[in-house]
Amino acid sequence: MRTVIITGANAGIGYATARFLAAQSGWHVLLACRNESKAEAAIDAIRQTRRHSQLSFVPLDLFSLASVRRFAAVVSEMAIPPLGGLILNAGGINMTAKSLVFTEDGFEQTFQLNFLGHFLLANLLVGHMIAGTRIIFVSSDLHDPAATKMGKIMTPRFGSMEDLARAIGTAAKLRPMARYATAKLYAIMAAYELDRQLRAAHKAITVNSWSPGVVPTTQAGRDMSPVMKRIITSSWFVSFMGSHLSTEEEAALALGNLLISLRYSEVSGKYFDGFNQIPSSVESRDPAKARQVWEQAQVLAGLAAEDPRSVPLNSAFSHGHNMPR
Ligand SMILES: NC(=O)c1ccc[n+]([C@@H]2O[C@H](COP(=O)([O-])OP(=O)(O)OC[C@H]3O[C@@H](n4cnc5c(N)ncnc54)[C@H](OP(=O)(O)O)[C@@H]3O)[C@@H](O)[C@H]2O)c1
Repeated sequence: MRTVIITGANAGIGYATARFLAAQSGWHVLLACRNESKAEAAIDAIRQTRRHSQLSFVPLDLFSLASVRRFAAVVSEMAIPPLGGLILNAGGINMTAKSLVFTEDGFEQTFQLNFLGHFLLANLLVGHMIAGTRIIFVSSDLHDPAATKMGKIMTPRFGSMEDLARAIGTAAKLRPMARYATAKLYAIMAAYELDRQLRAAHKAITVNSWSPGVVPTTQAGRDMSPVMKRIITSSWFVSFMGSHLSTEEEAALALGNLLISLRYSEVSGKYFDGFNQIPSSVESRDPAKARQVWEQAQVLAGLAAEDPRSVPLNSAFSHGHNMPR
């Protein structure tokens, strides 16, 4: 029995994936969500049809780096099966906000939710992972300006992460969708860099990233008017925004299989779009830029070497994993 952590598992793709994995034998599914009642409702709903599934909940609010640290500390003390999977799924974009919103850490919300919070979480948990663990960063087709029409308009902007995080300087005037696309680009680059570091340290942990295509039924689309719903499921909209249309169940199958299928046990440092392994954007595959992303994010997340709270990747490994069996 192994534990898989899924962030944002109470709704949308995360919930469908939790449901899919709860039906597989050998997995304890830990829902990492910011809202306890939504998480408990999700667990109850899954248990209705999968009575004997192993499920638990630990609070995680990605808008707070302190919450991310608390989550990692709580999980490392829990008497649960060892950590064998991490699905960094929570994310989205607040299109209705009239102005930029900042987290308690002083970072723009879209950036922290779609990139920095998960970056910190992966760093804090990696030392607790057993051999064979699979880490999956959930990204978006929009990270690649060549892949969608929207991507050509709302192009991700690789550059100073400090500027993006604080919405200043070169990133002061970015549109919400471009902020989201940039955060999703950074998530893929961090996944590549983490894969390179793990391979250099001879760790049997795989790291991949994955995009779902367009899944219009998740939370963002749920409250839309019938007319808007028709628009966002039209082939025109789908080809504008992404690679393909997907149901939540199809997305869960594609994402869940990346975690459990034998086919992917040795696959690492790759990018998947739905069920297909494809090249991610040209920029995302630049190792020097990915290294810069990693180093800038370490500073912003308080993981830089001079920070006493820091758990550098290599020292985390040398302590081995202390996840209770
Ligand atoms: N749907 C698509 O077409 C699409 C396309 C490309 C990429 N994606 C990506 O796929 C992932 C899942 O999206 P989805 O469509 O399933 O979205 P969703 O239905 O809106 O679910 C998002 C999940 O993230 C959680 N979340 C939001 N803010 C959080 C925070 N501060 N801390 C912790 N959890 C938080 C939400 O919790 P609450 O319920 O508490 O808000 C919810 O559980 C996201 O990363 C998204 O960017 C989706």
